[in-house]
Amino acid sequence: MEDRVYIFDTTLRDGEQSPGASLTSDEKLEIARQLVRLGVDVIEAGFPIASPDDFEAVRRIARDLRGVAVCGLARAVPEDIDRAWEAIKEAETPRLHTFMSTSDIHLVHQFKVSRESALESIHSMVRRAKGYCVDVEFSPMDATRTDPDFVYRALEVAIAAGATTVNIPDTVGYTTPDEFARLIRGILENVPNIHNAIVSVHCHNDLGMATSNSLAAVLAGARQVECTINGIGERAGNASLEEIVMAIHTRKDVYKLTTGINTRQIYKTSRMVSNYTGVPVQPNKAVVGANAFAHESGIHQDGVLKERSTYEIMDARSIGLAKSSLVMGKHSGRHALRVRLQELGYTLSGEDLNRAFARFKEIADKKKEVSDRDLEAIVENEIQPVEEIYSVKLVQVSCGTGLVPTATVEMEKPDGSVERAVAIGTGPVDAAYKAIDMIVKVPNRLLEYTVHGVTGGIDALGEVTLRIQEDGKTFLGHGADTDIVVASVKAYVTALNKLVASGPAPAAEVSAQRAAVVATAKGVSAPSFSGTAPLGHGLWKQG
Ligand code: KIV
Ligand code: ZN
Repeated sequence: MEDRVYIFDTTLRDGEQSPGASLTSDEKLEIARQLVRLGVDVIEAGFPIASPDDFEAVRRIARDLRGVAVCGLARAVPEDIDRAWEAIKEAETPRLHTFMSTSDIHLVHQFKVSRESALESIHSMVRRAKGYCVDVEFSPMDATRTDPDFVYRALEVAIAAGATTVNIPDTVGYTTPDEFARLIRGILENVPNIHNAIVSVHCHNDLGMATSNSLAAVLAGARQVECTINGIGERAGNASLEEIVMAIHTRKDVYKLTTGINTRQIYKTSRMVSNYTGVPVQPNKAVVGANAFAHESGIHQDGVLKERSTYEIMDARSIGLAKSSLVMGKHSGRHALRVRLQELGYTLSGEDLNRAFARFKEIADKKKEVSDRDLEAIVENEIQPVEEIYSVKLVQVSCGTGLVPTATVEMEKPDGSVERAVAIGTGPVDAAYKAIDMIVKVPNRLLEYTVHGVTGGIDALGEVTLRIQEDGKTFLGHGADTDIVVASVKAYVTALNKLVASGPAPAAEVSAQRAAVVATAKGVSAPSFSGTAPLGHGLWKQG
């Protein structure tokens, strides 16, 4: 049995099925490139039949990426398999992944087909896939609620038809570690041609056991694990890549196995996925949560200062979290910033470094110490490859108890002219967004808006993530600033610029939804303040 576990990343497919997560094809391509740096063996890039956008994203990833297998998902039906092949055929190593339910619950209630008919479909569709692609994966969906004898039979048929990987999904997150390990051992003992395929597992986290179940399966002989960055995925998510990998890495004594993952890329990948999907990482998330390496208790702090291993089982540097003696503040120069960013995994030069440095100086003027998370926010939010079609020159808001929140916004338009608009809203952010809409005039729907402090403290950077939608397409925006109104404006304008860049010219009318609210806005909820803020100099006077 191999001593290497293959890591199959499905962040861009199952992960994107996470409620609220959706990615543009540019964002998927960037994440895929980062997954290659991370060292995953297979990237499941999407479900090509699901939509033209999905198809296009899978095709771009297959064309552009080298050094990794690129996989497309397909139901066991001819149209799906043909479409998936079209999307992945230019990959260096294409993989076709087809699946079919095998549990009686699914066969009887959902698909209304007999077991025999399911076996026939598995046989003919795996053969069809094999006609296109050497590397074929088959998954018996809902395997953990399927009669084990029927799982064995389905896998035997799939392998005979040409499957080279058989993946055992715990589709509804129902199994337990002991039970799942028994199923994997049963498969290895009872499927006569199993030596012709790699056994893979794909666990969901409905009962919080996705990682434990996957690792129990590995101990029982599975050699591919399907997982996602930050554990995002359908419902409660999938097994989390960083947990699986760091468990195998940290407990070599137990697993006696390796992966091809460069663990130092874990933290950066986690941040990128969280930023692009807009799905935040809970602070106490294992391995990549903000508190994963933070010690609050005095006894623990004392121990760690004397000897790190007293209370830390992993070195923060092993996931790419650099510890540094450089304290970044307003006296730090451009060179120190470049070095620190490099330690954090970002190599900036030229114009990007200039912009980051200018932003760093603005923040350092307001905060005594600029933390690593602040620096990451600067890079992630300021150094984005987003064309500035519209740019904000000034934001001024006035709001508070007894006042109607009002915003004045000045923006430079694509033709170089500067336009000013004034709007009222339910709060300062709403008013600012309405004023922006009056200038940009692109209909869209605000799907979600979140704001959180990048670090603790009243002077923390506020990071805003939002998503807007138009014509079925979703655009993500980020903004970070010590002033949350300014951060909100940056996030909205970033998303609007992406929207404008993606399609036809702006419509003549402001979205009816927002325009209507301008007229009816009432109520005040924000604390009282007013002031004028050229962007990037968000100084607000309490008033
Ligand atoms: O959870 C599941 O069963 C799946 C399959 C498509 C592998 O995602
Ligand atoms: Zn799944």
